[in-house]
Amino acid sequence: APAQDLAGLKVVVSAGPTREYLDPVRFISNPSSGKMGFAVAEEARARGAQVTLVTGPVTLPDPSGIEVVRIETALELRGAMLAAAEDAAIVVMTAAVADYRAAERAGEKQAKVAGDVTLHLTPNPDILAELGRSKGERVLVGFAMETHAGVERAALKAARKNADFILLNYPTREGTAFGGDDNEVTLVRPDGSHQAWPRLSKREVAQRLLDEAAALQRRSALA
Ligand code: C5P
Repeated sequence: APAQDLAGLKVVVSAGPTREYLDPVRFISNPSSGKMGFAVAEEARARGAQVTLVTGPVTLPDPSGIEVVRIETALELRGAMLAAAEDAAIVVMTAAVADYRAAERAGEKQAKVAGDVTLHLTPNPDILAELGRSKGERVLVGFAMETHAGVERAALKAARKNADFILLNYPTREGTAFGGDDNEVTLVRPDGSHQAWPRLSKREVAQRLLDEAAALQRRSALA
């Protein structure tokens, strides 16, 4: 059995995509599988944490011993995360939150019209940044996917959102990130210091992520 180094701590993890409905049957989303977030939740549970997993629509079954909250939209994710994070020691945002939602969600299925249509989108709240603004003693971890200037952009993101670190991954490496069982990530801190990890299973990435988060948590609890 793994060391129970997270016993007595609450860990909150978000996973999967969000769905932003245009009308009752159509939505904007992305191909996030939820595997990375589920791996973090299961690893935290195995190490003794009390875990809440807030997940968008994915095909993965509820892991046992974990409180699972199923949401669809970014606004629902926000509500569930703010509530669950209140008494958490570690919060990990792996969810692929849609940046925009329909400015108005139609109550009925929209009929096809001739010619072009224009969608009016409005930005979703940045949940990680919001958690960062009321950070307290919590350790806060984000993910980022970048196609270029990854480390610089991820460091700026970590600083702007007040996250302790961000795991940067690349959408273009085969078998990793969206849908894959492996991940190849670089840990990036707000000061720009960073460390590239080798290609690992998502469970192994979860182990290292929680090693780092637990060390930060112990330091913040002592301070
Ligand atoms: O800014 P960007 O979307 O690249 O940041 C990614 C990180 O921020 C992820 O941890 C993601 O879960 C989180 N995020 C969020 N709310 C948003 C957008 C992203 O919490 N609206």
